[in-house]
Amino acid sequence: MNFYVLTLFPDMVMSGLNNSIIKRAMENELIRIEAVNIRDYTLDKHKKVDDYPFGGGAGMLMQAQPVYDCYKAVTEKINNEAPTDNPQENKRNFRIFYMSPQGKTFNQEMAKELAKEDNLIFLCGHYEGIDQRVLDKIGVEEVSIGDYVLTGGEFPAMVMIDTISRLVPGVLNNDTSADEESFSDRNLLEYPQYTRPEEWEGEKVPEVLLSGHHKNIEKWRLEKAIENTREKRPDLYEEYIRNNPPKGKK
Ligand code: ADE
Repeated sequence: MNFYVLTLFPDMVMSGLNNSIIKRAMENELIRIEAVNIRDYTLDKHKKVDDYPFGGGAGMLMQAQPVYDCYKAVTEKINNEAPTDNPQENKRNFRIFYMSPQGKTFNQEMAKELAKEDNLIFLCGHYEGIDQRVLDKIGVEEVSIGDYVLTGGEFPAMVMIDTISRLVPGVLNNDTSADEESFSDRNLLEYPQYTRPEEWEGEKVPEVLLSGHHKNIEKWRLEKAIENTREKRPDLYEEYIRNNPPKGKK
């Protein structure tokens, strides 16, 4: 899986991602992350990449030329590395997302779909955004990470890359753990977990977890997951009950 981040702040992106599980996934060549500096593609002699919006208004906009040339360089690289079997076929071998609060809201379901792709490109705006003409010409998919406004697309791109990467086979130590967790499969939140010591500040670990009785442990975990979901996310709980009606009420 190859991730390309088109940004004015490549160091911010790489320092945010080059840690812990994602770092190990890169070292094991399960994923590749490349942050490409849009400024390297400006034809302006002062390396300028932004300008005032026509019609007035606050802030600066990123200009079309450096963004488009950066995009072309990255997609050429993708094509050279993995030429399509049939060059006549005008099919894209990548998907490109523009990080924007106006986009479709990213969720776990999208992450699962995207984890199957080979090449994902994230275009990060900064300042007030990007000249609309280049967004239209490229044909970006707009994606938001939630209903709030950040100063740029870098954090949203990092959020998406982290979420997608942990679904790539082999990235998590335990192959089942991505699926066992919140929102996956059963669409339930997680059950509470405990580690050593067995007693801390007078609080004991639930007895059943020390029993070694796997069936009882599974039953307890499911009950706790359902309870947790009912308390914290009544919307998900309703959906779970609709899909898994209590026995005898079908
Ligand atoms: N850029 C600024 N705010 C954003 C958001 N909420 N999601 C994605 N990109 C953004």
